[in-house]
Amino acid sequence: MFGMLARQQSRTLVIDDGVPLPVSPRETILNSALRADFDFPYSCKVGGCGACKCRLVSGKVRELTDKSYLLSKEEIRQGYILGCQSMPLTDVVVRLPADPLARQRVSGRILGQVPLTHDIFEVFVRLDRPLRYLPGQHASVEAEGTGIPARCYSFAHDCAADGQDEVSFFVRAVPQGRMSHWLIDPASCGQPVRLRASLGEFHLRESPRDLLCVAGGSGLAPLIALLEAAARGDAARRNVVLLMGARRQRDLYYLEQIEALRRQWRGRFEFVPILSEEPAGSGWSGMRGLVTEGVTAANAREAEGYLCGPPPMIDAVIARMSAFGADPGRIYFDKFADQTAAARAMPGR
Ligand SMILES: Cc1cc2nc3c(=O)[nH]c(=O)nc-3n(C[C@H](O)[C@H](O)[C@H](O)COP(=O)(O)OP(=O)(O)OC[C@H]3O[C@@H](n4cnc5c(N)ncnc54)[C@H](O)[C@@H]3O)c2cc1C
Ligand code: FES
Repeated sequence: MFGMLARQQSRTLVIDDGVPLPVSPRETILNSALRADFDFPYSCKVGGCGACKCRLVSGKVRELTDKSYLLSKEEIRQGYILGCQSMPLTDVVVRLPADPLARQRVSGRILGQVPLTHDIFEVFVRLDRPLRYLPGQHASVEAEGTGIPARCYSFAHDCAADGQDEVSFFVRAVPQGRMSHWLIDPASCGQPVRLRASLGEFHLRESPRDLLCVAGGSGLAPLIALLEAAARGDAARRNVVLLMGARRQRDLYYLEQIEALRRQWRGRFEFVPILSEEPAGSGWSGMRGLVTEGVTAANAREAEGYLCGPPPMIDAVIARMSAFGADPGRIYFDKFADQTAAARAMPGR
């Protein structure tokens, strides 16, 4: 038994060819790294955001949650795991995604908030120095000194070539949500924040294919960023269908900015807002139903998909696109998972 304990305690973790770090029994890769003051990327710590993904180069781990919820099939095939959800069973060697953009750490202050709907606000942040990101990516935002856990938010606009010293996010006030309410609180103006960025694989791929973009709620943010960037270059020749799912007319926003994008676009640009709970007789002449109903064989089969919003919406759109013959390898998405979703993904924990 003592031999077994000794073997457990002698486990080590090597990150990116660095010095071996000790791993305590039942400790995750992320916690071992943070205990050793290693700047390992993370946000939610509960398997809900994907910020801590790393490639398992050698060794065995016990995984606490189903990572297919967050990682693509290709990433899983390449051996990616979630650092916050993987407990080493042997000595382990991992490699972080070799992405210099992901290593940026920038401080800033909340500049202000502008209401977009009754529960979605554009939150502006002034940064101490320019931050670079690919339009579509997100940051992990920490409200300094509040004790509120960091949360991920997607950049809502295009990024200048030399970076942005002012960024904004579309933040939905999640019922009982600590960070979202802090961000939209006028009292938070001037308060310090720290950003870990730029995270995620959600960005436009080069291709001549048509684009099928699907947004739910504040999931419009990365799509606006991505389309703004595309509008500046040749990608604006690609045909695009933008489906925006909302409950009622009062939940629609950024309509003028979308119209401006549409006018600027050089290919075909079709914008389809779809309302799921608009009262009958309200005068709404647009489409009704779930946003998935806007996905058709014609706009899905040959298109590249860019989906962003609540996890169930993404799963439903992927299923429908796949049913119409779209290649799942050409469907890119960011699931705006919160702690409810993370808890659902971790039954029994
Ligand atoms: C990649 C990514 C990008 C994102 N981008 C955006 C964005 O651009 N805009 C945006 O608005 N959101 C975005 N999100 C979601 C965002 O990160 C937060 O999850 C969201 O704002 C809620 O955070 P919160 O601190 O306000 O709520 P939390 O305090 O985390 O609570 C969220 C909900 O979970 C419940 N809850 C909390 N803890 C538990 C638990 N242990 N078990 C069960 N339920 C629990 C709460 O009651 C509440 O209803 C993104 C998420 C990801 C992963
Ligand atoms: S920090 Fe691991 S999934 Fe969020």
